[in-house]
Amino acid sequence: MSERIKSLEAYHQEYERSVADPEGFWADKARQFQWQKPWDQVLQWNFRDPDVKWFLGGKLNITENCLDRHLETRGDQTAILWEPNETDEPGKSLTYRELHAEVCRFANVLKAHGIEKGDRVCLYMPMIPELAISVLACARIGAVHSVVFAGFSASALADRINDASAKAVLTSDGNFRGKKSIPVKSVVDEALQQCTSVSSCIVVQRTKDEVDWTPGRDFWWHEEREKVTADCAAETMDAEDMLFILYTSGSTGKPKGVVHTIGGYMVYTEYSFRNVFQYEDGDIYWCTADIGWITGHSYIIYGPLLAGATTMMFEGVPTYPDAGRFWQIVEKHRVNIFYTAPTAIRALQAFGEAYVEKYDLSSLKTLGSVGEPINKEAWEWYYEHIGKKKCPIVDTWWQTETGGIMISPLAGITPLKPTYATLPLPGVQPMLVDAEGKELTGNGVEGNLCIKFPWPSILRTTYGDHERCRQTYFSTYPDMYFTGDGCRRDEDGYYRILGRVDDVINVSGHRMGTAEVENAINEHPDVIESAVVGYPHEIKGQGIYAFVICEEDVTDEEKLRQEILGTVTKVIGPIAKPDKIQVVRGLPKTRSGKIMRRILRKVAEGDVSNLGDTSTLLDPGVVEDIKSGALSSA
Ligand code: PRX
Repeated sequence: MSERIKSLEAYHQEYERSVADPEGFWADKARQFQWQKPWDQVLQWNFRDPDVKWFLGGKLNITENCLDRHLETRGDQTAILWEPNETDEPGKSLTYRELHAEVCRFANVLKAHGIEKGDRVCLYMPMIPELAISVLACARIGAVHSVVFAGFSASALADRINDASAKAVLTSDGNFRGKKSIPVKSVVDEALQQCTSVSSCIVVQRTKDEVDWTPGRDFWWHEEREKVTADCAAETMDAEDMLFILYTSGSTGKPKGVVHTIGGYMVYTEYSFRNVFQYEDGDIYWCTADIGWITGHSYIIYGPLLAGATTMMFEGVPTYPDAGRFWQIVEKHRVNIFYTAPTAIRALQAFGEAYVEKYDLSSLKTLGSVGEPINKEAWEWYYEHIGKKKCPIVDTWWQTETGGIMISPLAGITPLKPTYATLPLPGVQPMLVDAEGKELTGNGVEGNLCIKFPWPSILRTTYGDHERCRQTYFSTYPDMYFTGDGCRRDEDGYYRILGRVDDVINVSGHRMGTAEVENAINEHPDVIESAVVGYPHEIKGQGIYAFVICEEDVTDEEKLRQEILGTVTKVIGPIAKPDKIQVVRGLPKTRSGKIMRRILRKVAEGDVSNLGDTSTLLDPGVVEDIKSGALSSA
């Protein structure tokens, strides 16, 4: 393992070098890896097209770096530690050697099913070791993985399979999650009715629930595994070949497939993992995210395995069998580094300290937070009750598109300030701009957060639609990557993320486009139009407030609400269900037909005292109507 940054002074030096000589800096970081052929050029870029390439001409396979490279030095060390949903079911662990063998075996299964370099494979699976094995098996043979969070509906899954023209789907019979056993395969069956590109569906047996079977298409993982050897040479890949697609929501239209490529993503996830968490050999590291999101990709699988860490995967939920589950697991496995989301912290905080005090948390050294702004109360509770005031909290700001952590304290090195993501990682050049794109220099400023220079794990494109990538991220402000976040740089130069400035909402750390939720609501036959906004929610960070206009007078509003929830669940999944649905006569539109969301946000927040200027509205009377029917924001 290569050196970590060990002091604030070293951080500043490293940061300065990364800005003065980015190519030399990242070439040095990249050299520790196993390259089948070294790169010819470190970086080529412009943010106009955009066109960003790192380590041009370099050949490698990321799994050789996650697995083979470690066999000699840490073959018998645990790579993946898996904790099941039930407390009385034995967990599993895989050493680096065992994981290597399983990945090679499953890579051979994929090959036997005709999957080749460049083919897309969709993974729709619960948090079981086979999910991590599948991800790596794809990478082993150069197939592109597209993991879809297993809470999405059949229709959302079908959209993602079709967008990527996936050749195979990897799934499980079911999923144990808390008290429930959730059918997974049946969602895939339903999705596949709308997909023609898929020739194989390989199913892990987890719950042993009965499932429908399509002979010739469906295969059991455990049966296929027996038919192949555990020998599989790693495919030679170009540094800029696609590693994966991960769908994420934006402010318009359907979710887009964010594309990450191999070389830069590898170098950056390892570097950021090692430095942010200050991982030391032998540490037990646990990130509670789901592999269906970017956090799971970069900081359960790739970053930790590249760094030779022991990474934990948990199948269940934080409140089962009770709200002490996380802490019980920390005690049981003597977890040293714990990385979770503010929404989980707030939810557990609400259950009180008794669940925490039952367990010995003395193994903890570092805590992490990701996915949404962490409020002061949650930060302090986490710091005091979980970290016992001795563990630094790394509040890590980043995005699906950035591939890795961008702004964050380095554990134990960067002085903390609650609710602040603090300072950029070396190689990251943030910049705040005003609405016109003018740079806000100096400290004590607030504006839109952009990044002005490429870092190795920046997204390369959006799958099948490069223009959309340009439009979304590189056109708002010329020659800059626009994050979509508002941000404050305080007097000390510390960064505090204020949340999205576009029509993206963040509900329990799940990112959603308001347009996407509106489109789902509009599928209900009685709905003519809808408008969705986020509002502050004590546990979820943001809740979803929907204003809907219906065909005719609604007699049974409760029934309509339930039906709309059902429609949204069917179109997207339960995570997108509105918390509040208000039936309205009209929406506040300007004469050009644009919905004035500012007004709706105020109503949703329960602050109707000052709605600002409403004179440009087509029908200002609508506002009174909406105000009088507003649902309490409690
Ligand atoms: O608004 C920011 C918020 O989450 C968005 C990115 O969401 P997603 O692509 O799903 O990735 C989440 C996990 C990396 C960002 O635009 N966000 C993420 N981390 C933080 C955050 N907001 C405040 N503080 C954070 N630490």
